[in-house]
Amino acid sequence: MTKQIVLTGGSSGIGLELLKLLLENEHRIAVVARSRDRSDELQNNFRSNGLEVFIADLSVQAEVVHVARMIREKFGRVDILFNNAGVMLEKIIRSQQGNEMHYEVNTLSPYLLTLSLKSALMQSADPLVVNTATDGLHQIPNVNVGELLHPKSNQAPLGMYLYSKLSLALLMKHYSEELNRDRIRVINASPSGNKTKMSMGKGMPIWMKPLVTLFYKHPQHGATLLYSAAFGEEHLGKTQMYLQNNKVKEIRSSINDEQASDLLSGLKVDAAT
Ligand SMILES: NC(=O)c1ccc[n+]([C@@H]2O[C@H](COP(=O)([O-])OP(=O)(O)OC[C@H]3O[C@@H](n4cnc5c(N)ncnc54)[C@H](OP(=O)(O)O)[C@@H]3O)[C@@H](O)[C@H]2O)c1
Repeated sequence: MTKQIVLTGGSSGIGLELLKLLLENEHRIAVVARSRDRSDELQNNFRSNGLEVFIADLSVQAEVVHVARMIREKFGRVDILFNNAGVMLEKIIRSQQGNEMHYEVNTLSPYLLTLSLKSALMQSADPLVVNTATDGLHQIPNVNVGELLHPKSNQAPLGMYLYSKLSLALLMKHYSEELNRDRIRVINASPSGNKTKMSMGKGMPIWMKPLVTLFYKHPQHGATLLYSAAFGEEHLGKTQMYLQNNKVKEIRSSINDEQASDLLSGLKVDAAT
């Protein structure tokens, strides 16, 4: 059955390969791209009736809310939201809202987009949110919320990246009762190691580079894992899972009410409704 799907970060790397898979399977896709150039590139490369491109810088909260409204108006119903856009940076920088950038793009923005698309997700018979996670989330003992909110300028960016990815999964787990009430399922799926702009870029620590060259795969690999997370029969009806290599791993850590509210303190706008 044709699904109506929202995909962030669909203009490069794993997201671009996922977009190809989704179009092959004749779904209707709203890709959120960062810039007009990216949008034109996509429209020129894929002359498909199934593709619509929306522009938003997901590090700007007002743009996240605005793009959600545009998508809701155009699509009405959203069956699957792939929160795939992400950053791994070489240094600590701040977003327009003053938040650390990993926390902004990898935690707050997908959370805000999910809330802002909630009414459209609720129009679906089986609404699903798939967050692109990273390997080893189940091995990180806990998120240091204080560090994420108030990082020192010399903080290791890789640590921020890992915390920001785990925080998104933990936030969604913390609010699972509310999401369940609205029948919205959440799957956090690791795409494993893929050679992309991100993994080959300056944010990847130098000691990891030989491993990336030797062991990381073509981003089709990650795209297939994300696709299986959403469409694999074995995952139908399931929620609040973390998948690594398409296998369920338990994330043992959790956050309490105070930590959840601290994590959401970086949100400076209300979700669009
Ligand atoms: N590659 C790996 O081995 C690996 C492993 C684990 C997890 N991941 C995750 O996989 C996802 C995709 O990453 P990738 O490896 O495919 O790298 P990528 O090619 O750099 O893709 C990242 C995507 O996110 C978009 N993006 C970043 N910041 C944005 C912003 N402020 N507004 C709008 N879009 C923004 C980028 O847009 P632009 O093209 O405009 O920059 C790009 O399309 C990320 O969430 C990443 O953390 C990757």
